[in-house]
Amino acid sequence: MLSQAENELLCRVGPGTTMGEVFRRFWHPVCLSEQVPGPDCDPVRVEILGERLVAFKDSGGRLGLLEEGCPHRGVSLALGRNEDKGLRCLYHGWKFAVDGTILDMPNCPDSGLKQRLKAKTYPAREAGGFVWAYLGPEEKTPPFPKWRFLEIPVENMRVNRIDAEVNYMQQLEGGADTSHVGILHSNFARPGWMTGAFNANTDQDNPAALATGDLAPTLQVEDTPFGFHYAAIRQLPDGGADGARNVRITPIIMPSTRIIPSPAVQFIIFEVPMNDTRTATFAASYRLDGKPVDQWKLNEMSGRHNPALFDETTHRYTGTWANRFGQNRAAMRDDWSGIKGVVMEDMAMAYSQGAIADRSKEHLVPADQAVVRCRRQLLESAKRVAEGGDPIGVEVDVSTIRAIDATVPGNMPWQDLVKPDTGAVR
Ligand code: FES
Ligand SMILES: [Fe+2]
Repeated sequence: MLSQAENELLCRVGPGTTMGEVFRRFWHPVCLSEQVPGPDCDPVRVEILGERLVAFKDSGGRLGLLEEGCPHRGVSLALGRNEDKGLRCLYHGWKFAVDGTILDMPNCPDSGLKQRLKAKTYPAREAGGFVWAYLGPEEKTPPFPKWRFLEIPVENMRVNRIDAEVNYMQQLEGGADTSHVGILHSNFARPGWMTGAFNANTDQDNPAALATGDLAPTLQVEDTPFGFHYAAIRQLPDGGADGARNVRITPIIMPSTRIIPSPAVQFIIFEVPMNDTRTATFAASYRLDGKPVDQWKLNEMSGRHNPALFDETTHRYTGTWANRFGQNRAAMRDDWSGIKGVVMEDMAMAYSQGAIADRSKEHLVPADQAVVRCRRQLLESAKRVAEGGDPIGVEVDVSTIRAIDATVPGNMPWQDLVKPDTGAVR
């Protein structure tokens, strides 16, 4: 439970807010590479941390990220013409290079203003199928993060986004919350739920499949330089010979990234606040064996193939109370949620909490420890930043962070699984 004031501090991310300052100290994905496919492509509207920007590539294929409103009179540059080395505003024709230099000013050709003025830009880079941006103070620009997936050929990964009309914290907390997996995602986690029998879902790709029917995992949470990770420890159906148990280790990387494991696939998920009540979820999924992921299968599992709930053109989740988030009540006799797809189930939960969840009325239980740790670390970062310090996780090496879903022998501490030097599991 949080006070109203703490909840506000946690959730508000626009310019001038403390949590906004925390987020501005990190690189974030802002759109997919496929949205800016090549030289002179269509400009794309980008929204992050309450700021409206436009991404484009010039004739040389250079990437630019400009403030969306034209510095002349604020018309959207996303409506502009992308032509010959720059983006031209449709209204009076001012033309901008990727670095914000004004190349042309047809309605004021000789004023000198062209030399004095520049469009506002932010540093942007392309990597791993995403366009990334840094919005913080220039002197505090961190090194570009070396995520493990950036070394994997994009064609072997599944890279996608889904935009939702909820605050980022609901999405982040949903991702850090392991005890809902065996319940909300019953259809995927434990196909035998109807009869009470436990049939393990043995799909190695499925992050919602559990090797156990234990619905009350023991959580052990440990702080790390990047934020924290937690182990969800579940008893095996046969009791586990010699104390063997299933362990799922989920790293939560400050401020709002996590890696979700399935036995064969890592799902790295970035919750990027577009504004206080909109969140873009960017995901990169890759197989540990380096082979291409089965995109169709993962999309089907998530529920993205349903046009009533997901618009592929705009990347927007389109469930609302009007379509009951796709819930089929009649089907619930033999379908746990009545909603098709893991992500679509998660979305319905997040939307039903409201645009910004009220955390002052909650009753938390031990299974919510990871959710609590997310909040505590973000509020701690806000405190540090307000005092002129650095947020948790800034400039940390992220290259070795991994998530694990494995059955381990009773004599092995779970921490051994994530020590880069032990190679215990992989
Ligand atoms: S508003 Fe863009 S050139 Fe006038
Ligand atoms: Fe979920």
